Amino acid sequence: MDLKAIEEYLELLKFSGINEMVVSNNNEASIFDYKGKSPLKKNHKLDINSLKAECLTCQKCKLSETRNKVVFGEGNPKSDLLIIGEAPGREEDLTGHVFVGKAGQLLTKMLKAINIKREDIYIANILKCRPPENRNPAPKEVENCLPFLEKQIEIIQPKAILLFGRVAAVNLLKIEQNLGAFRLKPFLFKNIPVFVTYHPSALLRNPSWKKNAWADLQFFQKYYESLR
Ligand code: URA
Repeated sequence: MDLKAIEEYLELLKFSGINEMVVSNNNEASIFDYKGKSPLKKNHKLDINSLKAECLTCQKCKLSETRNKVVFGEGNPKSDLLIIGEAPGREEDLTGHVFVGKAGQLLTKMLKAINIKREDIYIANILKCRPPENRNPAPKEVENCLPFLEKQIEIIQPKAILLFGRVAAVNLLKIEQNLGAFRLKPFLFKNIPVFVTYHPSALLRNPSWKKNAWADLQFFQKYYESLR
């Protein structure tokens, strides 16, 4: 493990109250402490507007034939936080804006509950076009569309990513498991800490899951506020 990797790992552990770790290297143990540095540097060389323009004319898959509008994503591209959902629903497809339907209203409330204003952060989806009848994204659709999200991440360089729902988690992290196995632990995507909670649509269908979602949000908040 090199020094950079250790610092990155400590960044993740810091919010659990762990500030140092013992590393054994060639039988020599050294203690590395967290210096409060972010492992990430902002890189605005790529331009979000050019990427959006490219995305709006995308015809890589058949969803371009059934969509009304491409939903590229929106918010503050300089934000430390990127929220990722699954795909546009009916309202989003009609308006071209992310999370504007009932699930979007709940998402706004969930963020507010952890002191995050929606307008301060960036929100995007795995798919930029609505799958008919809101069916799950097909693997080929994800394969075609993911490069747009990966470029958004490269431009925004968030210090944390919060994923809403299993579909977003499986398709970004490329780990096939239940939502429960993604909860309450950080993952890494290109060295960026990633947290996972329930999709607001799932919470609207199953309000009894809100208690767990609240635990997830508080877990995430602890990390996110440790960055400030
Ligand atoms: N559900 C999502 O996953 N994303 C949206 O933008 C709207 C609903």
